[in-house]
Formats: sequence, C-alpha cells, structure tokens
Amino acid sequence: SPLTTAAPGKLSVLDVAHRGAAGYAPENTLAAIDEADDRGATTVEIDVQRSKDGELVVIHDTTLERTTDAEEVFPDKGSYDVGKFTLKELRRLDAGSWYGKEYKGERIPTLGEALDRLRANGLNLLLEIKSPALYPGIESDIAGVVARNPGWLAPSGKRGADRLIIQSFDWESAERSAKLLPSVPHGLLGTVPEDEIADYAEWADQINPSHTKLTADYVQAVHDAGLEVLTYTVNDRSDMRAALDKGVDGIISDYPDVAREVIQEH
Ligand code: G3P
Ligand code: CA
Repeated sequence: SPLTTAAPGKLSVLDVAHRGAAGYAPENTLAAIDEADDRGATTVEIDVQRSKDGELVVIHDTTLERTTDAEEVFPDKGSYDVGKFTLKELRRLDAGSWYGKEYKGERIPTLGEALDRLRANGLNLLLEIKSPALYPGIESDIAGVVARNPGWLAPSGKRGADRLIIQSFDWESAERSAKLLPSVPHGLLGTVPEDEIADYAEWADQINPSHTKLTADYVQAVHDAGLEVLTYTVNDRSDMRAALDKGVDGIISDYPDVAREVIQEH
C-alpha cells in the first residue's frame, strides 16, 4: 500500500493530534477533533473499541471510569468495561465534564460520527485498534464502517498525506486489518526488533514507537526497509526536535499546534 508523501507547501512531517488534541479538550471526543483542526493538525489519532451490541466507539481506556461519569449513571454495575455496555448506555455518559465543565455533555462518539467530523474538518485519521483481543472480529467491523463512509479510501485529505492509517500495539490485529483493507497503510505500535522489520514490511507501512525508545539508527533501519516512523506521545519542544533530528516521518502529540511550529522551524 502507498506510503505517505507530503505535497508541496504542506508539512514535511505529519503533525498528528493525539486522541484528538488531548492537551486542549477531552480526549477522543468530537470537541477534541475540532480542537485538532483549529490547532493546525494534519491528522488526528483516536482509539476504537466495541460496545456490547457491536457498535464501534471512540475511547482510550478499556474501562469507563477515568473519562466518563459511568459510576454515577450506573451505580449498580460494579465494573465498567467498555464492552459490557450497549451503545445506548454508553451514549448516556458524559465524556467531557472530567476535563472541564465547559465540555459537559460531550459524548463518547461512534467511529462513524468521528469519521464525519474529521471529513467535515478535512483531517486525516490515524486509527488505533485498542485492545483488539477483547473484541474478536473488530478488524472486519472497522473495515465495514470505513467502506460504508464515503471518502476514507481516497488518497488524501485537505492537508495532504494519507486519508486513513490504521495502527495497533497488537501486530496480529494490524495484519488482519491490512488483509481486509489492503489499500490502507498500516502501522505497528511499539518497537519491532530490527531483525524482524523486513518480515513485517511485507504488509506493514509504518513502525510507530514511543519517542523514549527512538534512535537515529532505528529510524534508518525502518526507512531502509521502506517503512515510515511516526512517534508518540511527544509533548515537549525539545523532545519534538530530538525526534525530528532522528528522521521521523510524523509526530503524535497532545499539542499539535506546538508540533506544527517545531516541524516548520526544523
Ligand atoms: O498513537 C500512539 C499512542 O496513542 C499510543 O498510546 O496509550 O495513547 O493509545 P496510547
Ligand atoms: Ca492511541
């Protein structure tokens, strides 16, 4: 599948807003996607999981307590795994107030809603399949939603680069997804041992390690195998500069406006 290429006049390195712009709005909400657009991101990273009744929902943790009011709304549930709640139940939750009272009423978005909002903003998507072992078959659910929503298999959004990239820490899940969506680039989160990169290069397009694990030699080895490197979660200017010095192709940050500035200055 095609590698990302920046068009003339666009950023040379992808500026990826982590969980939406999580530094400025409640993560993985439509408000965070709008904030990412306002802050000049090229791409938004969000996490996808699945409800009890099979709907794809955008949320990071596999439990609801940290970013919603689930304990107040469902005091008798006892445990709060995302996959134990129907979409109707999840939609009752407030996913904004924990971050700030001005975000009261933000909901856990469905993947379809997130796609609509990203498209409205002309943003590209870096979609993380979160904890897929909990959701057998989620890769084909994702492929179905992507295929049903127009435009996501097209080559480019407003700010260039690929419209959609799919990634996971679960490399077998990423491979299943790559087989279902062969025209979509796929990334492996984490650090693939150097002697295994060539094998993964048969179907993967990116290796996306933590910036704390990154060396220039590692980035070079990934590039030599024909893959790209996006690195997470880079929030300090000095760490952004260090990642750019090592040759990364994208910076995933809670502060995409800061990343944009550092990329432009570099
Ligand atoms: O995109 C990479 C990054 O999101 C991975 O870590 O825990 O924020 O999903 P996490
Ligand atoms: Ca993520």
